[in-house]
Formats: sequence, structure tokens, C-alpha cells
Amino acid sequence: MMPSHSIRSQQDHEKLSRQASHKDPLVRKEYWLSLAKEYQWRKFPTQSLEGSFEGGDVRWFSDGHLNITENMLDRHLPLLADHVALHFIPNQEGAERRNITYQELFQSVNRWSKMFQSLDLKANDVVCLYMPHIPELAFAMLACARLGLVHSVVFGGFSAQALRSRIIDAECKLVVTCDGSYRGDKYVDYKNIVDVALTSLSESESESENEIENKILSKVKHVLIHDHTKKPISLVKGRDLLISEELKKIPMDTVVKAVDRKAEDPLFILYTSGSTGKPKGLLHTTGGYMVWAGWTMREVFQLRNDSLFWCTADAGWITGHSYVIYGPLLNGITSVMYEGIPTYPSADRFWKIIEELKVTHFYTAPTAIRGLESLGDEFPKHYAMDSLQVCGSVGEPINLEAWEWLKKWVAKERCPIVDTWWQTETGGIMITNVAGITPEIPTKATLPLPGVQAILLDEKGNQATREGTLCLSHPWPGMARTIYGDHTRYRENYFKAYPGFYFTGDAAECNERGEYRILGRMDDVINVSGHRIGTAEVENVINESHFIVESAVVGAPHDIKGECLWAFAVYQQHEGVSIMKPIQELLIEVNQLLTKQIGAIAKLDRLIMVPQLPKTRSGKIMRRFLRKLSQGEKDLKKLGDVSTLTNPEIIEEISKLI
Ligand code: WT7
Repeated sequence: MMPSHSIRSQQDHEKLSRQASHKDPLVRKEYWLSLAKEYQWRKFPTQSLEGSFEGGDVRWFSDGHLNITENMLDRHLPLLADHVALHFIPNQEGAERRNITYQELFQSVNRWSKMFQSLDLKANDVVCLYMPHIPELAFAMLACARLGLVHSVVFGGFSAQALRSRIIDAECKLVVTCDGSYRGDKYVDYKNIVDVALTSLSESESESENEIENKILSKVKHVLIHDHTKKPISLVKGRDLLISEELKKIPMDTVVKAVDRKAEDPLFILYTSGSTGKPKGLLHTTGGYMVWAGWTMREVFQLRNDSLFWCTADAGWITGHSYVIYGPLLNGITSVMYEGIPTYPSADRFWKIIEELKVTHFYTAPTAIRGLESLGDEFPKHYAMDSLQVCGSVGEPINLEAWEWLKKWVAKERCPIVDTWWQTETGGIMITNVAGITPEIPTKATLPLPGVQAILLDEKGNQATREGTLCLSHPWPGMARTIYGDHTRYRENYFKAYPGFYFTGDAAECNERGEYRILGRMDDVINVSGHRIGTAEVENVINESHFIVESAVVGAPHDIKGECLWAFAVYQQHEGVSIMKPIQELLIEVNQLLTKQIGAIAKLDRLIMVPQLPKTRSGKIMRRFLRKLSQGEKDLKKLGDVSTLTNPEIIEEISKLI
């Protein structure tokens, strides 16, 4: 039976868009409730949307009850028990692959749930998952969801300090990790990093803040460790538990009753960078996220029952949450989970996997495409990849060259490419062409999906015609409901700049047909290889160097990463004399600091020491001018009005240093 909200033609797209955005709230309500009907609810909701952007409080399907794992697992068993749910490809080429059927996944998730149940956790407790991209991460996420625990996955590339601050912010009660893992030939020492993250700060240097943090950390009663590499590890007595040992006590056929969750009960927290120094823990709730992840997955990619979907993102990011784990399993299809990197052991690894597994859908990031493109056409050339039906791009604007390369060498001029714009905050895809159905325009995300209402605004908040700030004017089910522990920040961040609208932070242009091109971030967030990094976060770390008094970080263009980090910084002075250190040495030192405090993704490509930073009278650093300089602007007249600066002459001086 064809689900009621399928997009099988442009007319469908138009019709559903009209229904979902109808001026009559009853028509809208009917639309959204019928989307929800495709799932199994303990109690079907009578409400769709309640609340509004103005209030900063939005609820969806609020009187509905469900458990999302029943929709991802239990519901599929009658027909799909032996169908592969997860197809795991390890980092090491020769290592054993794993085909995990829906029945097996159900079994693992239930046994993991049983294991979690023995740990004295209560509903809505937050569990930190710091793991490589392996099936055990999926088991842990779903076991949390089954029990009404809230997972907070922290990407393995983050450092011990970054992990620590996320554990503290969410007041986690349990950490799940593994001994270690390889990505490419790089070893990540998960267990050690967790140990460092959980170490109390020494009392001698302890200020009251340290005491508070130590107290929160002491609430992590257990660390569960999966023996992934089987390397020897040391265990902290009373705290650390080996998953292999715990599971021995749990019979294979254990079934744990899924906990009843209200639609608005929290499902997960995921941290992302914002424009202040502190990462934001976006909180997603259960019913709305399920409906949005499930529906966008099926429609954008035009799934079929036999689809074999490969999203190359790590489940440590929202893309992996929605399109490696939740979306595919909600739709009962097979999802590929790959532990490694695109170029290991050689640059044809992706193409080999596509061909060997007969992948039908390939969803990746422009930075990966550019990286592979830079290694030459030779690699994809020898692979027909004729199983492929759809390719997708996500994470940053895709440049024409990368788009054309993907179209030629991977899509083989045969498959549609979808360019999907969305964010950690949106939970699922928002603006995109629909594969093979709506027009595909290179470098344009094109049309908002039915139910998504986009608008461009100018600085005064009036509607802009061609180019402006991308905002959304109507709530959608998949949106994050709050920033964990800081609802005021949530309101201020997303709903204050333009009252009545959700502020995306992106600039965009739009033509008369309503097709969007996303131009990139316009706030103090930099997109490096498709990952968001806040300038303030990086500057705070740089300023800790004894040689630097202050700094300004900007995104400079980079062939593969899209943008890379450049810092302009001022030497610390001592009695009026700058304490100099050769720039190359200082760059190494600063990068070590950044790796330690944030992770290798926050490393600088360039450090430029300047006499002063451009500032306004109120002391605000004008990064805008520095950004333009780093983008190669030579004509200083084109930088814009520098008269608001207290030190306009500094611009010319800085330009000579680049
Ligand atoms: C930011 C969100 C959820 C996707 C993974 C990144 C940029 C994302 C596109 C696209 C142009 C894009 C935007 C957005 N972005 N997709 N198709 N075209 N830009 O999630 O870390 O929350 O970052 O990524 O700037 O705001 P994220």
C-alpha cells in the first residue's frame, strides 16, 4: 500500500505543500496527523502543533504516547525479521563484516536494555555515548530510547576536555565507551580519553567551579566498556564494567518491555557549536523527531523496500543520527555503517564498498567529494556502481566542480543528486530537491519540503526578494525543542533576531520559482569539512597561550575542507614589550592546545600575528573585515565601511601581513 504522503510527482509535492501550509489550521492539523498515522503509537495523538515561535515553546503530537524503538524494531519483525538492518563495514579491509538482521538487532537492543536496567538509572537520565562508528553505538542508542533514557552521543574526534564539559553540561549518569578503535591508521584511545574526562580536577587548584564540576562528575556511577579491539585496558574498580561480562548474564532471548514515552519526552541531546564559547546541547523529543526523520528519509531519497542506504556520516553528528540510525530503521531498510575514512587503505574504498554491497543510495558530504576528487578520476573510473539509484550531499554548500564530479564519476550521469540543506537543530532534511521528482539544479538545495516554510529577511526584518537571511516561518515536527539546561539561550539564539521566525544563521538567495541556494553561515560559526566550529570557542583556547593576549578567528577558503580556520592574534605584552615567539612555533603550540581542549578538528591552518585587531568603539572585534581579507580581497575599498572602527588604519597594516 502506498503511504498517504508520498511524493511521486511534482504535483504531489505541490499538493502536499499546499495542504501542510494551508491557512486553515484544521487542514494543516489533518495533514500532520496523517503523517503520524504511519507509525505505531501506544496512544494516537489528537493534537498536532501547539505553541509558536513567538513563545519559543513548540509541541507536536503532545498527547500521543509511543516508544520509538517499537517503530524501528518490533513493528518490522513479522515481515522483516531476516532482513538486514545494519550492514557493518569495519575500518580494516580484511576484517569481518557484520550483517545484523532486524531480529538480531532487536535481540541486541533488548539485551543492552536489560544491561542498562541493572544500573540504577531512571527515565530521562542522560547517558553519554563516546564510541566509534560501530553497531554497538546503535545498540546503545536504541537501548536508551527503549528505556526512556536520553542519549548524548559525543563524536570520537573530540578531546577529553570537550567530552568532560559535555558530560558535565548534561549531568550524565552513565558513560558507554570501548577500549579503542582505528580510523584509517590512527588509533583513538577511547577508554583513556574517558578516564581523563572523568578525573576530578585537583583539589589544590580547585576553585568553587571545580568543586561543582567534580560533584557532577561523581554522579557518573558507571562506565560500560565494549571490547572492540581487545587491547588490554585498566579498569577503575567499582566504576568500570565490561559489556562482554555483563551480557554473559543476560539470556539471548531476553525481551525488555519498551517504556511508554509521551511524544514530547526527550529522545536525545546532541551538542553543536554556536556563536558563544559554550557548545549547545540541542534537545530533540520523541514523536516529532520520529515522524520527521522517517518521512524525510523515505521521500527525499525515494526509498524502496529493498533500498540499501549508505550515509557516510558518523553517528556522532546529526546526519548519522537521522540517516544512519533512526531514518533507515524507521523505514525498515538496510543501513550501511562504515567505521573508517574515505581514503583508507586506498582512495577507492568508497567505490569498492558501493560495488560489493550493491549500495542503492549514497549520501555524503562535499568535503569528502572534494578530497576524493583531488586524488584523481582513476579511482571511481574502474567501478560501474550500477546498483546506485540516488546520490546525496549534505553539510555545506556544494560547489559546482564537486557537484559535477559526483554526477560524472559516481552518479555516472544516471542517478539524481539531492542537495539537502538542514541543521542539527532541524532534526531532518528541510530544503532539497526530491530525487528524480523535483528539478535538480547544481549548487542549489532548491525547494523547501512540504511543510517547511522558508523566507528570506533583510536586516530590518522585512522580506527580502533575492538574497537575505534564511529564516523559517512555521514550526515543523523535527525541530529541537530547547538547548538542554538553557531555554533562555534557545529563545535568544533562534527566535530573538526576527520575532515570529526561526533564525537559521545561514544566508541564502532565492529565485522567482522559490528555489534556494544556500550561501553559508552569517554568524560567528565556521563550517570546516561540514562540521560547525564556533569562533568564540576557538578564540577562548588560543587566548590561553601565554604569548597571546587576544585573537579573532575567521573561516578562510580551503580547497577540500570548504573553510579552514585562520587566527589573527596579538602578542602579549610585558611592561610594554611584546613577548615574541616565532610564528611557526607558536602555531604548533596553539594547535596542541586546541587539540587538547577541543579536538583535532579545531586546529588552525594559519596564525597571523598583528599589532591590533580591528575594533569598534564599543570594543567589538570586527571579524567581517578579517574574513574578507582571508578570502583574498586585495581591494581595501571593497571591504565595506571601516569608519566605525576606532583603528581603521590597522586594516591596511593587516592586509600586508597576509
Ligand atoms: C549548517 C548546519 C545537518 C547537516 C549536517 C551539518 C550548512 C548543511 C547544507 C547544504 C549548504 C549546508 C549550513 C547549516 N549546510 N547542509 N546542503 N547546503 N549548506 O549540520 O553541523 O548542524 O550544520 O551546515 O550552514 O546551517 P550542522
